[in-house]
Amino acid sequence: MSLTKKFQDLFSLRGQTVLITGARRGLGSAIAHQCAEAGAHVVINDLDADQAEAKARELREAGYEASSAAFDVTDRQAVRQAVDRILAHCGAIDGVVSNAGNQNRKPYETYEEHEWRAILDTHVGGAFNVTQAVMPSMVARGRGRVVMVSSTVASHTKGTLAPYASAKGALSALTRELAQEFGSRGINTNAVAPGYLKTEFTNAIVDDPDFTRWLSARVPLGRWGKPEDVAPAVLFLLSDAGRFVNGHILTIDGGLTAAL
Ligand SMILES: NC(=O)c1ccc[n+]([C@@H]2O[C@H](COP(=O)([O-])OP(=O)(O)OC[C@H]3O[C@@H](n4cnc5c(N)ncnc54)[C@H](O)[C@@H]3O)[C@@H](O)[C@H]2O)c1
Repeated sequence: MSLTKKFQDLFSLRGQTVLITGARRGLGSAIAHQCAEAGAHVVINDLDADQAEAKARELREAGYEASSAAFDVTDRQAVRQAVDRILAHCGAIDGVVSNAGNQNRKPYETYEEHEWRAILDTHVGGAFNVTQAVMPSMVARGRGRVVMVSSTVASHTKGTLAPYASAKGALSALTRELAQEFGSRGINTNAVAPGYLKTEFTNAIVDDPDFTRWLSARVPLGRWGKPEDVAPAVLFLLSDAGRFVNGHILTIDGGLTAAL
């Protein structure tokens, strides 16, 4: 008899339901594809119902299990109602990926209070709303996985990102806090901290040749990251392979933050 699980079983999410916020495009979409390929029923969240459902339909047409749940992660009541509906429909939520995010780039002294709040509310308030809504059902079952999407800007920055960097720093701290509070109740909480990824989120700097030149020279692997570079790490944290990882911030940045 083998003492270790088969390789595929370690990374399988068969029979599990995973809710991914902000998943209609970009990194969330890549995470949804990765989890669906691993056998999960993925629930695609985003702001717009048609766009979220279009992504879920795309996955179903590719032979995977997927549904959609549109809500604004900053709307506490909408989050709770949606989570209740998912639990009623799917029976359980095994994993949640708090990925929804927004960003603004400008000098610190020009930020308006509403701009500051919009970013903190989405990243940190959204993670608070979604995890608080999902975790009681995980506690009741004695198992669950939470993955936050933080960023390398939580620890290293080039400036002009004050609210975003503050939000990502808070998410890294929240990750450790939840890992401590919920670990003994069977819930692992971790985060990924991607470096620069080519998505619509970063269009403005992707289109800036000076920035791409700087990035290619600065990142030891010499290129922009892709959402598909990060999604497998999220699968690892959601799957049985990551069962003893808790409170970890997994940097995925091509070596950016390792190099001087
Ligand atoms: N692109 C990068 O370089 C990079 C690097 C590190 C971390 N991240 C993080 O990865 C995550 C995904 O980023 P991306 O690059 O795929 O960006 P993206 O803009 O392509 O995707 C973000 C998605 O979140 C959704 N969203 C925004 N506010 C929402 C809300 N209130 N409720 C529900 N959904 C909402 C958007 O509609 C969008 O579909 C974000 O948390 C971002 O901060 C991105």
